[in-house]
Amino acid sequence: MIRNAAWRRSLLCVLVLSLGFASPPCKARIYTNHWAVRIAGGTEVAERIAEKYGYRNMGQIGDLKDHYHFYHSRTIKRSTLYSRGRHNFISMEPKVEWIQQQVVKRRIKRDYKPSPPLSLSSSAQLSQAQSNIFYNDAKWSSMWYIHCSDDVHNCQSDMNIMGAWKRGYTGKDVVVTILDDGIERNHPDLLQNYDPQASFDVNGNDMDPMPRYDATNENKHGTRCAGEVAAAANNSHCIVGIAYNARIGGVRMLDGDVTDMVEAKSLSLQPQHIDIYSASWGPDDDGKTVDGPASLARQAFENGIRMGRKGRGSIFVWASGNGGRSRDHCSCDGYTNSIYTISISSTAESGRKPWYLEECSSTLTTTYSSGENYDRKIITTDLRHRCTDSHTGTSASAPMAAAIIALALEANPLLSWRDVQHIIVKTSRAGHLSAPDWKSNAAGYNVSHLYGFGLMDAEAMVKEAERWRQVPAQHVCVESADRQIRTIRPEHVVRSVYKATGCTDNPNHHVIYLEHVVVRITITHPRRGDLSINLTSPSGTKSQLLANRLFDHSMEGFKNWEFMTTHCWGEKAAGDWVLEIYDSPSQLRSQKVPGKLKEWSLVLYGTSVHPYSSLRNDKPRSTDTLTLTPTEEEFTEEYNGPCDAECNDGCEGPGPHHCINCLNYFLKFKNNTRTCVSECPSGFFHDDRKRCKKCSSSCETCIGSRSDQCTTCRAGHHLNEGTHTCVASCADSFYLDYDFNICRKCPENCKKCNSSNVCTECNPGMSLQGNRCQLTCDPGTYYNGHRRTCEHCHRTCATCAGTGAEACTKCAEGYLMEDWRCVLTCSTGYYLSEQTSDNGHMQKSCKMCDHSCYECLGPGERNCSSCVSGYNLEAGACVVSTICKDGQYRSQQGLCHLCDVTCLQCSGPEEEACTRCPDTRFFDDGHCSIRCQTGHYPMGRQCYLCHHSCQECVDEGPDNCTSCDRGILEYISVLLNINPFLIVVLVS
Ligand SMILES: *[C@@H]1O[C@H](CO)[C@@H](O)[C@H](O)[C@H]1NC(C)=O
Ligand SMILES: *[C@@H]1O[C@H](CO)[C@@H](O)[C@H](O)[C@H]1NC(C)=O
Repeated sequence: MIRNAAWRRSLLCVLVLSLGFASPPCKARIYTNHWAVRIAGGTEVAERIAEKYGYRNMGQIGDLKDHYHFYHSRTIKRSTLYSRGRHNFISMEPKVEWIQQQVVKRRIKRDYKPSPPLSLSSSAQLSQAQSNIFYNDAKWSSMWYIHCSDDVHNCQSDMNIMGAWKRGYTGKDVVVTILDDGIERNHPDLLQNYDPQASFDVNGNDMDPMPRYDATNENKHGTRCAGEVAAAANNSHCIVGIAYNARIGGVRMLDGDVTDMVEAKSLSLQPQHIDIYSASWGPDDDGKTVDGPASLARQAFENGIRMGRKGRGSIFVWASGNGGRSRDHCSCDGYTNSIYTISISSTAESGRKPWYLEECSSTLTTTYSSGENYDRKIITTDLRHRCTDSHTGTSASAPMAAAIIALALEANPLLSWRDVQHIIVKTSRAGHLSAPDWKSNAAGYNVSHLYGFGLMDAEAMVKEAERWRQVPAQHVCVESADRQIRTIRPEHVVRSVYKATGCTDNPNHHVIYLEHVVVRITITHPRRGDLSINLTSPSGTKSQLLANRLFDHSMEGFKNWEFMTTHCWGEKAAGDWVLEIYDSPSQLRSQKVPGKLKEWSLVLYGTSVHPYSSLRNDKPRSTDTLTLTPTEEEFTEEYNGPCDAECNDGCEGPGPHHCINCLNYFLKFKNNTRTCVSECPSGFFHDDRKRCKKCSSSCETCIGSRSDQCTTCRAGHHLNEGTHTCVASCADSFYLDYDFNICRKCPENCKKCNSSNVCTECNPGMSLQGNRCQLTCDPGTYYNGHRRTCEHCHRTCATCAGTGAEACTKCAEGYLMEDWRCVLTCSTGYYLSEQTSDNGHMQKSCKMCDHSCYECLGPGERNCSSCVSGYNLEAGACVVSTICKDGQYRSQQGLCHLCDVTCLQCSGPEEEACTRCPDTRFFDDGHCSIRCQTGHYPMGRQCYLCHHSCQECVDEGPDNCTSCDRGILEYISVLLNINPFLIVVLVS
């Protein structure tokens, strides 16, 4: 069914292509000769499997454990068909858990037009800005986005970068890397901060990210982005980077075929060394693409978030997109849409919306970039050691944001990936940015689909960072899916209301305070671009998840696509969520069948305790509030003022600790004062009399005071599944589930394990088979899991993993191992290998010949003993047989050279090396001659030796001489005692 549809689509593709349409509605997949493979058991196993099937193992894919990059040189580099052949049998190897031939993904840089480089000498008007910071870098005075508060231009809102500098933050010890087309590491402005450890060339597979130079300077993009972040200050060159003491690296990954593997390698480069990854590229912003990270890139994001920066999470900064003119919507870009990326929008100097801007609800924040023609653009480093004042698009904004985040990370290196997002939400400002849709959400944050939470404020960010306390653990609440199928009628709104609880009955997933909200949705529709989708939160905040896209004619709809909104940040999760879908049919629509909403569900991310609850702080944030708080005695008399919102029946003062009764819960401190709170703080639970009581010391949240009533644990402790206690480390037969910080039970019979299905050590009497424990069987037998008994191995095996001759793990006496079989002698294509194993025993086995040999005597391509047809054996190697043309011969090196001019064919360059002659000549003892030499006679275009008695002849035999050999003549004349001349007369 599915295959049938795919077949029909590809047929359509061919038809459309052959009709010559400019943009076919279908994209041919382009397969590369690179594979991504997941193999358990370590590098040696991977190496062995690669060798066996003729691949080259290029090593682990970035930081992804057990994932390898295999390369197959005999497959064509780019093909529209997936590769077939013997190497495909690799997927049947038991250790190969997953394999995927890599396809080319279309990825676009997010700047928008080439512009001539700025000559350095041209304009160094050092009109000093009003600031009291001055640098000698030539372009410093024009760097409006750093000191925009000058008089000359009326930029009205500052990103307060100098404010952060004045507090001493310049990005020191923070590592940023630019994932792009390379970085000119020896640029005078980059040299000083360049970090080779944060750099790699994925396209060229080496350590050097230097861009490839060409006439159009196509690969200038990464270098431009890098300068914005970390160009050196006060070095009399070009510009000043926003984090000018940060270390800067570059990954060259856009200058070649981009595949899932290329992205994953880049996103998972050195996650313990690199703090911030900045990416200014993504799927085509053409207003019709819906594309996002595939499985490896997704794993790289998750890996980075979970493990990067020593568990605090890698920071991924992403340009939101440049598809404004194509009416693109960044919700169709799975990279900016991801909760793991910080999606950055742009505003012009004037605060107006740039024409390239893409709107969507997943944008978090904004920095400056180019706008209209008269607006200034971004000044930065350029290829060939130059500077430019015309860097543009969201491409310019993402590195700026990366640099500002670097300042915040210097102020507090312990910030987690979520802390960084929280700080951005709290400190970004609407300022003078103009948008038609600014609104204030229920948590009080201003937010817009153009700009997220507004313009970044570097000074506010470092100030928040300095005193920041880590936000509580992220909870993920996956609400159940609404699977009621609804028809989407043209010009009608489909409305679906979902009552979310925020997973209230599951303490590990309970979300009260929202961060990101994801809507997973499946829709079928005859023209995707006609759809628009809104989501309204229980607090009434409306996010537009999708707007109409003029150019999106796709009939594919959305298959489990994840839309994301940041607009409900800080709001409450529980309540009615309203999804609205509207279909505005354009004339472009060919089909009349209505679309269908097949399924949708909410994934709510956030916390169960207030992220900034003051009770989480040991000391108040400001001493002012302390001195202003009146002492209790002053209120014992009469108080008529307003009560705190947490009070129930009046109060004796304005604070929550002055309530007579609490609306929600009482919290009592050690010093015996009580206060009213909306939720019991971390480390407390509430009893049935509305009192917050202390949890057992190692619990973070609990349902009672006993140590076996924990629901989550304090840092350094894990929840033990089953017992509900908090333990410092998981006991035997438990493993740590990092995502949930829970010690979970290992599978049956397993003593130690890594996850619910990967056992690493078994209980006594059991042994490990793959990842499972099973009964230990005697040598020569194996465990039959079906019958639960030990059974005999095949007679050729000494030990085995299962039934049959192919399951041997060791061979019986006299047999040799050959590809898991045991054989008496090596088969064709295998050679006998003798290796000394670790314990000193000589091990004999049959190993596969190099794939270039038919038969061989040993490993490698120089030990062949015979070749397949079409190949010749030369010095042990099989080389392609070369057939030379007439008039040429093949040299030892297999090359064709010209014969001597007289030959038609020859075996070498010499005159006497002819093997065939042209019709005009006689073949004569290797020569091609006009006539036969003396002593030879011609016959059928070939010369033959005359009879030994003739000197010259006309045919074979002694009777055909035309003159005689002088020696013979003399001998005969002596013999007959006559004049030799007479003999001639006699003979003729
Ligand atoms: C979504 O919200 C926008 C802005 O309020 C509105 O213009 C549009 O009609 C709404 N669309 C749907 C499907 O409700
Ligand atoms: C009692 O302790 C709490 C928290 O430790 C503090 O906020 C409060 O001001 C203290 N009250 C008095 C009267 O000392």
